[in-house]
Amino acid sequence: MLELLNKSIAREIQVSVQYMWQHVLWRGVKGFAVKDELKSIAVSEMKHAEAIAERLSYLGGIPTTKPNPIFIGTTLKEMIKQDAKDEEGAITLYKQVLDLAKKEGDEVTHRLFRNILADEEDHHDIFTSLLEEI
Ligand SMILES: [Fe+2]
Ligand SMILES: [Fe+2]
Repeated sequence: MLELLNKSIAREIQVSVQYMWQHVLWRGVKGFAVKDELKSIAVSEMKHAEAIAERLSYLGGIPTTKPNPIFIGTTLKEMIKQDAKDEEGAITLYKQVLDLAKKEGDEVTHRLFRNILADEEDHHDIFTSLLEEI
């Protein structure tokens, strides 16, 4: 479980920086339309990182400071395509965490990741909807 939680933190830090930098580096009219959304999702990912780190620390682990590789992209399409893919990765990983938490009878981790998973599905929905327009 500790390993899965650290994997989760590494990707939360990654997307938090990724979306915030995409928010800063947007270009063009379409970029203007999505820049605020990117910032608000970046902040929500940072909150996820913090909440998972709190849980990991409580369980006796040491939270990683290393993000997964960050991909900013140059065109808006490239950015949002990668972001949708990263949300898919999160959804897959967090379902694994939920399965394990259930098996271990760890209700608090289970509740935490149920809430986070709902956010990631929401982000995935936003990015895939944006992709239809850009
Ligand atoms: Fe997240
Ligand atoms: Fe997300």
